[in-house]
Amino acid sequence: MPKINLKTIKNRAKKEIKKAADLKELNGVFNKYLGKRGELTSVLRSLKTLPEKKRKERGKLANKIKREIEEIINEKKKNFQVSTFKPQEEWIDVTRPGKKPILGHLHPLTQVKRDVEEIFQSMGFSVVEGPEIETEWYNFDALNVPKDHPARDMQDTFWIRQENKEKLTDKKREIMRTHTSPVQVRYMEKNQPPLRIIIPGRIFRHEATDSRNEMIFHHIEGLMVDKNISLANFKAVIEEFLRRLFRKELKIRLIPTFFPFVEPGVEIDISCILCEQKGCSVCKNTGWLEVMGAGMVHPNVFKNSGLNPKDWQGFAFGVGMERLAMLKYKINDIRLFHSGDLRFFNQF
Ligand code: PHE
Repeated sequence: MPKINLKTIKNRAKKEIKKAADLKELNGVFNKYLGKRGELTSVLRSLKTLPEKKRKERGKLANKIKREIEEIINEKKKNFQVSTFKPQEEWIDVTRPGKKPILGHLHPLTQVKRDVEEIFQSMGFSVVEGPEIETEWYNFDALNVPKDHPARDMQDTFWIRQENKEKLTDKKREIMRTHTSPVQVRYMEKNQPPLRIIIPGRIFRHEATDSRNEMIFHHIEGLMVDKNISLANFKAVIEEFLRRLFRKELKIRLIPTFFPFVEPGVEIDISCILCEQKGCSVCKNTGWLEVMGAGMVHPNVFKNSGLNPKDWQGFAFGVGMERLAMLKYKINDIRLFHSGDLRFFNQF
């Protein structure tokens, strides 16, 4: 094995360290001498082949030089780090992008509710609310739903206070409201027409659930009363509302139907927004979608609210909020709204 002069290695290393212009070059020098295959490393490795006396002598010197080189390299490294990063000093990088907090957002139904409120408010309607626990009187009797009329069965009802039910009067018997219409009466008892209100709210029906029906859902009730309100006013208001909610020209049609609290009563269909009346599964190839019930306020409802039906006339309507949201956002299952499933909600 050729004899390698340790002093020459040391001098060469020193010179090269001095020349190194940056951290990268300095690391290069380190590897060249002290890395896995470095010159000094191989010298140290080869020591074991020497006789004991020589090994001790040369080992001592080699280790000393190794430490020296390490020391100078480390010393020089500090210079580089200080001049480029100044890690010891406190330093704020004002250009660094901020940490983005994870923000939640409004539930799609809340978004639709706010859209609807904004549209009606711009047409002069006020937003009114009423209780979710309602008396039988307001939910049915005051709305001209006769005691034994099948219309009462149309809305399967959650009764609360079942015990002594027979002894309680209609004004005391309580239920979870099956629609928002009772607030019409509550409002007219306290406010003289002319009036324009919408009533958004949660309603409850003892129904089997499927992709289109839930037990707990939301309606938006509308009521406009004045001396000369007709179904033509209703049609104009509703057309404007639908145009602004769906941002589309939609056709509507009014079909006679029965609700005890209106006369005449109508069902409102809109031209299918999904297929534009070409026919699809959502409109069952009819080109029309049913979206709400409406009609002219029944004289008995005025009477039960303390108003003279000879003095006033008006229209009322009730529209399903989930229905509107499902059409607006093309949602195919009403149960998703209460699912708490973020894969669904994060899309809005
Ligand atoms: N309350 C009715 C329902 O729940 C909807 C409606 C409201 C119909 C107002 C006519 C007038 O189906």
